Amino acid sequence: MKLTLTTRPLETQANDACIVFVQNKKPLLSGNPELAALLEERIKKTGFSGEFAQTLVFPTFGKIKTENIILAGLGESKEFRMEYLERAASAAVRAGKSAGIKNFATTTETGPGKVPDAAFVRAVARGAAWGTYRFDTFKTEKKKRDTFSLTFAGACENAAACRKALTEADLESQALLSTADLANLPGNECTPQKVATWAQKMARETGLTCSVLNKADLQKKNCNALLAVAAGSAQDAKIITLKYKGTNPKAKPVVLVGKTITFDSGGISLKPGKGMGWMLYDKCGGMAVLAVLQMVARLKPETPVIGMLTVAENMPGGTATRPGDIVKSHAGKTIEILNTDAEGRLALCDALSLALEHKPTAIVDLATLTGACIVALGHTASAVIGNSSELTAALLKAGAAAGERLWELPLWKEHMDDMKGTFADLQNIGKSGTAGTITAAAFLAHFIPDSVPWAHIDIAGTAWEESSKPWTDPGATLFGARTLMEWITGLK
Ligand code: BES
Ligand code: ZN
Ligand code: ZN
Repeated sequence: MKLTLTTRPLETQANDACIVFVQNKKPLLSGNPELAALLEERIKKTGFSGEFAQTLVFPTFGKIKTENIILAGLGESKEFRMEYLERAASAAVRAGKSAGIKNFATTTETGPGKVPDAAFVRAVARGAAWGTYRFDTFKTEKKKRDTFSLTFAGACENAAACRKALTEADLESQALLSTADLANLPGNECTPQKVATWAQKMARETGLTCSVLNKADLQKKNCNALLAVAAGSAQDAKIITLKYKGTNPKAKPVVLVGKTITFDSGGISLKPGKGMGWMLYDKCGGMAVLAVLQMVARLKPETPVIGMLTVAENMPGGTATRPGDIVKSHAGKTIEILNTDAEGRLALCDALSLALEHKPTAIVDLATLTGACIVALGHTASAVIGNSSELTAALLKAGAAAGERLWELPLWKEHMDDMKGTFADLQNIGKSGTAGTITAAAFLAHFIPDSVPWAHIDIAGTAWEESSKPWTDPGATLFGARTLMEWITGLK
């Protein structure tokens, strides 16, 4: 999507459609009371609810220069969250797209009061770009790829900040949309090797460095927990490391680790058939990390960033890991694998101990780790669990600003003890069978020294959308990428 800013007022814009947000059933249009009054009348007449992500497209018949108006509901102001704005913008573009509209205009004057103009521009531009996305790689008859544009018209309270926000949104959207094409590929297409080739190409194009540990390298490094996950698959495991240098040569890096299971059948602890197909999205932690690395490569924040993808396919082949097997991890801790479907933590623990070798100021891992997270929080929020209240607070703040909802869960000694093994140091499922999301994090915490700030984000409920929503088609959401980018940009 082509994104532009102009200081000329909205009324002078001859676009196909103008997007106006509606909050508390009122059109937000502070700079244009006349048009606002007309729209308010229209809202009353049509009974447009103004609920979040509701849209209404109608023609202006020459009353103003733009040919159509698209109303986009934000719901009530007391419930407002940044994700509503981003998603409502996406819904508006999707509604416009179905009406044949390609060139959109909007204005910061339609922003909710408490959102600064620059934040409004960033969220709306990113949402609008997402609204143009379609995953049609496997459609034999592809629809024509239209080019879409969005112009922000009128005065901005801080023009330089708005321009910067627009560039950020543009580069972020390019990263999100290109990574979504990889994240949406099914397991037969998106093998660990394919992820590695994709990462290497992206690194070449953006100036990142990329290195890949293959099976033999992982064996040499004793990454036997990760290797155990791939043991039953014809595809070898890998750890892919992408490095962004940062603009401050003195700064130490942050490391982002992404669970990248290209397909999770459960292994010998086979998952039930119903719904198993969704497990092609078990790579989405790694996909979000790929998106962030692409963003930092282009937007060049101060802080160096290292992205690590721990990649494997979890299959029940003849050489697969058996429940009861014991392996020794890279860190030297032994693990009883009592359930081969709890494979994410096995893949992550080796990558986390390798991450420590980079002497990071913080480690954040992102993983579709537990079904229990969906039981606890549903599909509206991801769980965050960590060993540093500062880091957790920073991520919660970044999530709120970036339009991704995070909710903290505790990590107590009892949870740590629950993961201690009978015959080995640790076991990969808890003895109590309770607190599934927390005990999974507790397993990981056994690999992190207290001195290193670490946070784990469980994106099981948020990494993909299973049905069509006003703001998106079904498929990968790349949840986590926006929050981590917001967090990294704020680090000094
Ligand atoms: N990838 C799954 C978690 C998952 C389930 C993500 C549903 C999204 C939707 C993970 O590898 C898994 O299977 N976890 C098990 C852990 C259990 C065996 C302790 C789970 O959640 O059932
Ligand atoms: Zn699993
Ligand atoms: Zn999994």
